[in-house]
Amino acid sequence: MEDRVALLSEWAALTCEETALLAESIGPAQADSMIENVVGRFAMPLGIGANFLIDGQEYLVPMAVEEPSVVAAVSSAALLARSGGGFSTGSTDPVMVAQIQVLDVADACKAKSTILASEAEILARADTSPSLSRLGGGPQGIEVRHLPETPEGPMLIVHLLIDCRDAMGANAANTAAEAAAPLIEKLSGGRAGLRILSNLSDRRRAWAEVEIPSKAFDSDDFSGRDVVQGVAEANAFAIADPYRATTHNKGIFNGVDAVLLATGNDWRAVESGAHAWAARDGQYRALTDWHVRGCGDSESLYGRLEMPLAVGTVGGATRSHPSARIALKILGLDVTEEEGPQSDGERAAGDAGKVSRRRGARRLSEIVAAVGLAQNLAALRALATTGIQKGHMRLHARQVAVAAGAEGEAVEHVAGQLIAEGKIRVERARELLGQ
Ligand code: MEV
Repeated sequence: MEDRVALLSEWAALTCEETALLAESIGPAQADSMIENVVGRFAMPLGIGANFLIDGQEYLVPMAVEEPSVVAAVSSAALLARSGGGFSTGSTDPVMVAQIQVLDVADACKAKSTILASEAEILARADTSPSLSRLGGGPQGIEVRHLPETPEGPMLIVHLLIDCRDAMGANAANTAAEAAAPLIEKLSGGRAGLRILSNLSDRRRAWAEVEIPSKAFDSDDFSGRDVVQGVAEANAFAIADPYRATTHNKGIFNGVDAVLLATGNDWRAVESGAHAWAARDGQYRALTDWHVRGCGDSESLYGRLEMPLAVGTVGGATRSHPSARIALKILGLDVTEEEGPQSDGERAAGDAGKVSRRRGARRLSEIVAAVGLAQNLAALRALATTGIQKGHMRLHARQVAVAAGAEGEAVEHVAGQLIAEGKIRVERARELLGQ
């Protein structure tokens, strides 16, 4: 661990204080100020997803996760992806939806057109964050939806579309919805109910793509062509079957959540949005697409992941949690809000390597998409070949050894013996430890 930390500190130019914080994270006083009824701190391992080449830039990706194999698997998939030039990514503008529920509207049709005709006035009322507007964000438009049949009768739903720039956006969206609601009541003659953001952030999406030559999958035991066909078949299974899609997408979130957690982002928000997006045509499906392209020597495996990704690099725990701040620094995303958002021109120049790397929340969402895609590739590759258990066994055995009380070198000794015996159980680990 010491050697890894030294390498990482040099790579990401961490200060001595930041390097120390990697191990220590938050203190008791800070924990007590973050949430309520605090009785302690709950630590997780922070690992590094290695080998990521994203839009021509090198990344070491901080991942906070408790499950063995996740970091190893994503790093090996990212290494494979390099033989196809790494990941290419993109994202939409960071636009969130804030909802205002309007009840007791006498004439829904008339109210809808009155609201739509007053868009400019509503947007002005919703423009509650001068700092967001200064950075080019803020309310951008409105939508009105009619729900004619709900268990409590008809209702109108007004959407405020808010560009949240580098923030996750919950505060900006909720404040805007609360500020605009009285005007919406006046215009519609109705009564405002809920005023809250929607976590189905389907306007705020990121995607990652990869294309890897089939021969990069060749091994002593499997031909690359069989492996890529197996990956495509596994994906088809998850597109057609919700039972499989749920597990398939869980594997994607092994990577996605780990980066979100490490960077202080709200992983529950991203999870709920992505699962709803995965069911957008009425059936829950895989978030990814994998298929075989070309033939013969030029055959390759193409993969793509696209999903709603409402993440922030400013605000909330992203800056107040020291580990999250360091994680952003490792990703090169520790720019301050004052430095402003990147224009599309600047982003494109960043792609071409002419100016500094792409930055901000959009960049974080693109990195997260690449990690999700790599994590999925690792799982499908294993499932389509040797199965998932083989690679899992050593890491699982180490966890069992630790659970039995093993420390230091004893962890490897006990784990090795458990594997050799084919019995990975805590009781046996305790016996071995006793011996
Ligand atoms: C385990 O955490 C994740 C997998 O089940 C994902 C998958 O089946 O695709 C391996």
